[in-house]
Amino acid sequence: RLVYVLNGPNLNLLGKRQPHIYGHTTLADVEAECRALADELKLELRFHQSNREYEIIDWVHEARETAGGIVINPAAFTHTSVAVLDALNAFDGPVFEVHISNVHKREAFRHHSYVSLRADGVIAGFGTQGYSLALRRLATLIDGK
Ligand code: DQA
Repeated sequence: RLVYVLNGPNLNLLGKRQPHIYGHTTLADVEAECRALADELKLELRFHQSNREYEIIDWVHEARETAGGIVINPAAFTHTSVAVLDALNAFDGPVFEVHISNVHKREAFRHHSYVSLRADGVIAGFGTQGYSLALRRLATLIDGK
């Protein structure tokens, strides 16, 4: 019942950068919320953020061996990274893509997602609550419901 929550570049600045778009909640707050929910859902959680593409890829590889599912906010790598897509394609379990903002309401370059070619579901524009929604769905799938 191990799940990974992975966060891409600049999300370490969550709560501080462009709060009109991303809100005031920090990534530490998101992690705390995810941990509380994981406890409730009896999931074991690995929560990571990196500004480096290879670290995201390495965590997906690590998840291949151990995890039942992945929640990922690839941030800007969403729109650029074939490498993150390829890594996720090598993972067998459910993958949910989360965006805090509604990317479809924003610049055209945010409308395309490489990761969506792999994701089993996408949440965008639900603020940081999107992470909890994705985790609940993962728990449902892991329980085989
Ligand atoms: C984001 C949306 C991306 O377009 C952007 O590059 C981000 C954050 C979001 O959570 O809304 O860094 O993934």
